Formats: sequence, C-alpha cells, structure tokens
Amino acid sequence: MKTFRKDFLWGGATAANQFEGAWDVDGKGASVSDMCTNGSHTEPKKVTRTIHPEYLYPSHEAIDFYHHYKEDIALFAEMGFKVFRLSIAWTRIFPTGMENEPNEAGLAFYDKVFDECLKYGIEPLVTISHYEMPYALIEKYNGWEARECIDYFLNYCKAIFERYQGKVKYWLTFNEINGGTTPLGNLLSLGTVKGYEGKITEIPDDPKVRFQALHHQFVASAKAVKLAHEKYPEYLIGDMNVFMTKYPFTCNPEDVLATQKEMRIMNWFCSDVQVRGEYPAYMERYFEENNIHVKMEPGDEEILREGCVDFYTLSYYMSSCVSKDPNGEQTDGNLIAGLKNPYLKASDWGWQIDPQGLHYSLNEIYDRYQIPVMVVENGLGAYDKLEEDGSIQDDYRIDYLRDHIKEMKEAVKDGVDLMGYTPWGCIDLVSASTGEMAKRYGFIYVEKYDDGTGTLARRKKKSFDWYKEVIASNGENL
Ligand code: BG6
Repeated sequence: MKTFRKDFLWGGATAANQFEGAWDVDGKGASVSDMCTNGSHTEPKKVTRTIHPEYLYPSHEAIDFYHHYKEDIALFAEMGFKVFRLSIAWTRIFPTGMENEPNEAGLAFYDKVFDECLKYGIEPLVTISHYEMPYALIEKYNGWEARECIDYFLNYCKAIFERYQGKVKYWLTFNEINGGTTPLGNLLSLGTVKGYEGKITEIPDDPKVRFQALHHQFVASAKAVKLAHEKYPEYLIGDMNVFMTKYPFTCNPEDVLATQKEMRIMNWFCSDVQVRGEYPAYMERYFEENNIHVKMEPGDEEILREGCVDFYTLSYYMSSCVSKDPNGEQTDGNLIAGLKNPYLKASDWGWQIDPQGLHYSLNEIYDRYQIPVMVVENGLGAYDKLEEDGSIQDDYRIDYLRDHIKEMKEAVKDGVDLMGYTPWGCIDLVSASTGEMAKRYGFIYVEKYDDGTGTLARRKKKSFDWYKEVIASNGENL
C-alpha cells in the first residue's frame, strides 16, 4: 500500500504581507495589504487610500519576520522542515511596480532569507504574488483590470527569476487565483479597488471587471511559466487555488447540478485554464448568461497554451453545501460561504472542519489533471491561551492537522501523486480575512496582540514537537 513519497515536502506556509512587517523599510513601497486596517470576526477590516494615524495597520509590523528571520528559520529547521513556503513582496523589489530597475535592498533581503533556508537544507517555495500588489498600480490602473499590469508583473518575474537561480526551485504565480471569481477577490487578489475607501465587505463589485482582470492574470501567469521553462529549465512552476469543496445539500438532482455549477466556476475554471491551457467550454454559457465579455488580444490563446503549470497546488480549510433552496442556514468561510453541513463542526470563525473533504478533493483534482499536487495551505485558526508556565496546549490544532494528514494519506493510497504539505501560518501571523492576530494557526506562538502590543517573543506550542515527530516519521507517527 502506498504512503507518502520518500522525498515528501513537509513544511509550513506564510505570506510576506502577513508576517514580514518592515512595510516601508529599505525602499519598500506600499502594497494593497499595507492599506488595510485591522478588523475582527464581527467588524470587517477597512481599506484606506492613505495611512490614517488613528487606525492600526497590522501588516506594518506584523510579527517582524524581517528582523527575526534567522530565529524563525532555525525553529522551522528544528521541526525538520524540508520546504518553507513564503512570498516575495513585489513592493520590496519594485516599490510602485513601475520602476525600470529593481530595488537592490529588497533583492538582498530575500538572498539572506533563502541562504538561511538552504543552510538547513530547506527548499524555499515562493509565491510570486500573494495579496501584495503595489498600491500604486491600483491607484493608477485599477489593478489587474489594466493589461499594462502583465508587463509590470513580467518585469518583476524576470528580476527574481534571474536573481534567485540556484536558490529557489519551486514557484507559484498567483496565490488563490480563483478568489478572483468571487467579489472578495476585488481587493487582495485583483486590486480592482481604485479610489475605494471603506469596509472590505462593501466594495462595489462588477463581474465584468473581475473576469477581465482574471484574464490578465492568466496571461501574466502563462508568460511567467513560459519564461521560466525557456530560460530556467530547473524551475518548476505551480498554480495555486483555494479549493472550496462543495457538496449537494440533498440528493435532489437540482442540488447536484447546482453544486456542479458552483464547483466549475469556483474550483475548476482557473485551474482548467492554468493546467490545460485554455478556457473550458462551460464558461461560454456562464459569460453569456452574466453578460460578461472578456477582451482577449490576438496571441493570448497561444500564450495560455504555452504556459501550462508543472504542478497543481491548493489551500484547503473547509467545505460547505449547495442547494437550490435559498432558505438554508449559512456558514462562514474563506472567500465564499455556503450552506451549513449538519454532519460537520466548525472553527471559532465558523469555518466547517472536514478532513474527509480533503481526501475527496485531492482525488477529484488528480483524476482531472494527473499532474503532481501539493497542499500548500491547511490549518485551524484558533484562539490560543498562553498559560502561566509559558506553554500553549493546542491539542485542538493537533487533532485538526492529524485528521487532515490521515486523509491525505488515504488520497495517496488512492493513487494521488502528492508532493508535499505546508500547513498555513506555521508561525502565528496576521489573518488575511480579518486582520487579527488572535486567529492563530502556528506551531510557534508569537507574543503579538490585536492592539499592536507584544514583545514579539517566539514560543513553541505543544503542536511544535508533535509536528516534528510527524516529519521525522514521514507521516507515520500521528
Ligand atoms: C488563505 C490565504 O485564504 O487563507 C492566506 O492564502 C490566509 O493568506 C489563509 O491567511 C487563512 O485565512 P485567514 O483569513 O484565517 O487568515
């Protein structure tokens, strides 16, 4: 019976805007995330056009990985990480996105980070764009709505591909690209919020703009893949999707068809383009029915065909149900909510916990694409308690991760070619949806709190030693 590959990539995942801090240091420009205030489960965070001194902007200091990277990477090495997923902040390299020459101080920072990883035999897995679009591109162009962004993104890719040869092998183009199929994608993914100031839940939405912006990301991603394949054959480039597993609420065929429709738009559309190299046939009807006309330039279809990714990656946190009946009880979730599943429990933020959904989803993905798959985000956002003796007894997190790893193993037994696993927020960091520190995912606790205070000291949680043993036993001792 199959189990995890011998070279299985165990590790953890982060994103620059959620953990680096140092938001305006060494020439860095403001990214879209730097313009977002903190919020909570009940009070949505805001985006502002200028920095207001009365608000708190959690990305500005975050957990200050910028100045703690040596200590943090040493802790990852102690857990036995084989891979560390991080993103490069585009605005460290090109502060407005539009400069001709990259910022040397920004490039040098990631040299140091990658060298530190390699010192311990940890492979960096780099997300090129993870909710870090230069804010200047948003204010000038309405983000990815403008085709110009393709060239700016390519300049950025050229600079980092060239610089990090021999240091980075695994790359992902856009984090959770399929977030752009939902209204929440406007802000962090697509940057189509020019001139907007206010709550992130009240951003005006125009699907025509969103799908146009997505098209530009597809072309940009394909061009980056093509560039890497032609010039840097050692590079492997993946896509990255937030996998929103959907079940029919009942066996009524109407519910089943409604589920299939949602799965196609939300989960399959973007990866069909990025893995297979063309728009899937079902999108024609969706575009027609929603009066969406995606403008393509001559040559775009060829670019998409020539820029297919080498591996498929996903984030997986939860599942929900779909019904034709609009009156069902809703559950919260990342990006889009859905109907509550009576068989599942939920996290404190209302995200339904469904380890078997990961098994199901991995099988569906691999059946469809037959290319290597990697789970690059998964985890439980939870309130952790720092005990008087300094310990953090996060058994709930261990349970969540154990159950999901067991189900990944089932998928491997079913034949899925699974490359690796990088649980989200392996060190506590700022929540993307709410801007909170209180929603913690890490094996490492960081003394940083929602009012901006905290010593930034790092502490190992109970899950730290547990995960270390999981890695040492290649997933056998759970
Ligand atoms: C994914 C993102 O959607 O989920 C991460 O790629 C994010 O950036 C993670 O942090 C967890 O979501 P949240 O809202 O709990 O931080």
